[in-house]
Amino acid sequence: MSNVNADIWNALYESGNYLHYPSEVFVQLYFRSIGKGAKSGDFLDYGCGSGNNSEFLARQGWLVTGADISVRALQVQKQRLDALGMSNAQIGIDGLAPIAGQLGHYGNIICWDCLCYNRLPKAKEDALALVAALEPGGHLFINMPTPRHEFATTGLELEDGSVQNRRSGTRQEGAIMAIPRDVDDLISWFPGLDAVQKGHFTFDFSGYKDFMFFVGRKPGGK
Ligand SMILES: C[S@@+](CC[C@H](N)C(=O)[O-])C[C@H]1O[C@@H](n2cnc3c(N)ncnc32)[C@H](O)[C@@H]1O
Repeated sequence: MSNVNADIWNALYESGNYLHYPSEVFVQLYFRSIGKGAKSGDFLDYGCGSGNNSEFLARQGWLVTGADISVRALQVQKQRLDALGMSNAQIGIDGLAPIAGQLGHYGNIICWDCLCYNRLPKAKEDALALVAALEPGGHLFINMPTPRHEFATTGLELEDGSVQNRRSGTRQEGAIMAIPRDVDDLISWFPGLDAVQKGHFTFDFSGYKDFMFFVGRKPGGK
């Protein structure tokens, strides 16, 4: 079976037309939750794309594992960290298979602008796998589009509750997406994590991009 989302992302990274800087919202949440100072330990960047957030994390001292369904994204992320002399592990994700068996265990996890690119039931299943992959005491950072995001308001609702993006000019036409009802719905996908931060942010540049975010911490650890 072809994976429409993997095809879309491979084409996008092949084009060279992608972001080259970390998410400023993630950077703010990182310092609010984890704090400044050089770090040691590992950080999973799930859906790492071209490595925008991986590079930021590597510069903070973390050993980053980049995971993605796009082979081309992983090549770009590796070249980028190699050029900085930063070691990096990678996982090529099979987006159609359960991710539980594809991940190890990590001190912290970011899943930024990624979990939404799934059918709704698979996104919830993947959320449980990310919780299981997080070590006690670790933080998980995630954002998702809200129902007010332009991909949701103009999208086609599918039988299983997923949404198909129909917004033209986004280079993501046809992508299948999972969109939680609200931030408390999203938090309920990650049972066992304490909500350290939660909220919303919006970009209204060339289209209305409205997101919810959640930073969860697994109890225990140091
Ligand atoms: C919008 S980009 C975000 C990239 C990066 N996280 C960032 O913030 O710059 C979405 C990424 O998620 C990846 N992706 C989509 N569905 C995925 C899935 N089910 N599992 C892992 N990665 C996925 C895509 O290949 C793409 O690299």
